[in-house]
Amino acid sequence: MAPLTNKGEELKQSSLSNLVQPFHVMELVKAANALQDQGKQVIHLSIGEPDFPMPEPVEQALVRAVSEHKTRYTAALGLPELREAIGRYYQSNFKVEIPAHQIVITSGASAALMYACLALINPADHVLLTDPGYPCNKTFVQMAGGIPDFVQTHEAQNFQPSWADLSAQWTRQTTGVLLASPSNPTGTQLSAQAMQEIVHGVSTRGGFVIVDEIYQSLCYDHSAQSVLQVTGAPSEQLPLVVINSFSKYFGMTGLRLGWMVVPETILPAIERFAQNLSICPNTPAQWAALACFAPETLAICEERRQVFKARRDFVVSALPKAGIELHSTPDSAFYVYAKSPYDSDRYCEELLEKALVCAVPGKDFSEFRGSEMMRLSYANSMDNLETAIERIRIFNQGR
Ligand SMILES: Cc1ncc(COP(=O)(O)O)c(C=O)c1O
Repeated sequence: MAPLTNKGEELKQSSLSNLVQPFHVMELVKAANALQDQGKQVIHLSIGEPDFPMPEPVEQALVRAVSEHKTRYTAALGLPELREAIGRYYQSNFKVEIPAHQIVITSGASAALMYACLALINPADHVLLTDPGYPCNKTFVQMAGGIPDFVQTHEAQNFQPSWADLSAQWTRQTTGVLLASPSNPTGTQLSAQAMQEIVHGVSTRGGFVIVDEIYQSLCYDHSAQSVLQVTGAPSEQLPLVVINSFSKYFGMTGLRLGWMVVPETILPAIERFAQNLSICPNTPAQWAALACFAPETLAICEERRQVFKARRDFVVSALPKAGIELHSTPDSAFYVYAKSPYDSDRYCEELLEKALVCAVPGKDFSEFRGSEMMRLSYANSMDNLETAIERIRIFNQGR
């Protein structure tokens, strides 16, 4: 029921509030929690965050920052020290020179996506998004008044688009593209060549490219890559925004810290949005994040990456034997996007009820084929993954 005002009239809500969609998976998670409250041992393959705590050196730096009262506002664009540290990270890991002033610290990749959309999209502009994709992208585009147009991707291309796919849907109203590599829910990446063709193609049409690289360093079959290796730093001629976060590889989801690399031309607009919408990112988290680039932290993150790789190898080989078909090769993030044996809503509901395994139906990620697909996350211990996949096998066998 719509909320009532104190005069008993119906409160009029904005049209934007009606556009924002809930996550369907939350209903399933509620049902999983209810089963857990009854003492049932549900295994979650629905989780979108690492199951590790933040690395110890980062935790210590966070505690130190608080005890030293580093809790006041910082500059809206973030701590200069952290912007410089990220610039050095691009230099040492990707051999690409990104000036610190083009790096902006944000409240997670979420705020970076919001600022990028607000700075680049005008009302009624059409923006190309991939299907399947991260469900919030649509919301960010709509918040800026834009209209999301979905480009269907296919397993034969690891659920990533080519420039041919994008250009086929580019119209006179299209102003840009928002991509993720690696992607959620598929755990797949764009090749450097595809990235180059897309950036080149979009720029010849005068459009912008936003690339979300939040899962960048969680990659298992080759070294991590960035679109910035292909393009160099964004510029006026290269309207590219690259987004990243401390949430996933550095295991700091709750600290709400990310960053974006932007062309100098949109920097003043980004600064005004940051000043107005959040004042600054979380201050102790920014001081803590400086410890992310210390060799001891990177060693911990690398060890965890190897753990994720072993889990990925296990899940990819065990799922088909348990009756779940994979049509793409996930080489990054911690997700497998798999074919559901039947309607994914019903399958995930029944899997939870009867096998106590919680997986995510595809409809949060895909308009086109959501009911055929589901997402399984391997951000869980190997023991739990083994038990979960054995439960899935028995459930599928008994159908
Ligand atoms: C593809 C993608 N982008 C952005 C985000 C938001 O991340 P953050 O915690 O940095 O705001 C997520 C979170 O799951 C994600 O999967």
